Amino acid sequence: MEIKKVGVLGCGLMGSGIAQVSAIAGFEVTVLEVEQKFLDKGFAGIERSLAKFAEKGTIKETPQAIRARLNGTTNMRDLADCDIVVEAVIENIDEKKKMYAALDDVVKPDGIFASNTSSISITELMAATKRPHRFIGLHFFNPVPLMKLVEVVRTIATADDVFQTAYEFGKKLGKVPVRTSDKTGFIVNRLLVPYMLDAIRAYEEGVGSIEDIDNAMKLGCGYPMGPFTLLDFVGLETTYYITQVMYDEFKERRFAAPPLLKRLVMAGWYGRKTGKGFYDYSDPANPKPNKL
Ligand code: CAA
Repeated sequence: MEIKKVGVLGCGLMGSGIAQVSAIAGFEVTVLEVEQKFLDKGFAGIERSLAKFAEKGTIKETPQAIRARLNGTTNMRDLADCDIVVEAVIENIDEKKKMYAALDDVVKPDGIFASNTSSISITELMAATKRPHRFIGLHFFNPVPLMKLVEVVRTIATADDVFQTAYEFGKKLGKVPVRTSDKTGFIVNRLLVPYMLDAIRAYEEGVGSIEDIDNAMKLGCGYPMGPFTLLDFVGLETTYYITQVMYDEFKERRFAAPPLLKRLVMAGWYGRKTGKGFYDYSDPANPKPNKL
């Protein structure tokens, strides 16, 4: 099956990034949101990112030519003829299931459904539709326009040709796809989440300060960001949600949220997006570690 038209559900950070890389790759893209203002915000971000790429000469076409392949809509029916629909809405299982059930009646029967979820079971989502064999996970990484990886997740029901089509689609987006199966967390979060949680535990136990632990992993291991900078970047409420799903699945302490993470989330300190997390971002260019 050849993919020509791409649908994206959600125009937040991940959805707009997925829409952007799809348009850069030459696909016609339709993005669905609940309100026009979310589309406007997402598309403004895409335009800023395309302008940066144009400045650096990393895109072959003009930003305008790429932008012309991107359409926004608040009407699900506009996704009817999509060959693949990638969902990147809020990590709420009931919301996602409702959306998939509605979409199932609208999108052509051979359209592929893909979810960008980082922790919800693809099997559970697929069961909300009448097309389980045409359902996969496509897990992208933030910031999508820069991060090279996509995890391609198969379930016990995924058809071989659907998996192959999705894998090739990932390549066409300029990503390096990796094959994985529907075990909560897939490859990256299976390894990344315990590492980030261990950094919080190390801090709680007085092993080092926030800044020193970050610098240690950055400069000692060559990671682009230390664990606390990364936690704030991913979002503490997102990480907390992922830990709950992973702990529920595996019942292992390494996936359990340390008390400090839970308290930051209860306080509404979600990281960069709220201006406060492990660091204070009052001066965004010069974040200062909070006293926790
Ligand atoms: N579009 C275009 N250009 C962008 C951009 C975007 N969306 N975002 C940043 N850039 C540009 C910047 O403007 C900057 O350009 P200049 O060099 O001209 O200034 C360049 O990219 C580099 O950015 P920065 O200088 O801000 O910082 P950096 O060199 O540290 O790179 C980074 C940024 C790529 C995010 C890097 O820090 C990094 O790789 N961090 C780790 C990110 C990571 O681990 N992501 C995965 C999180 S886990 C996840 O997403 C999944 C999950 O399920 C939780």
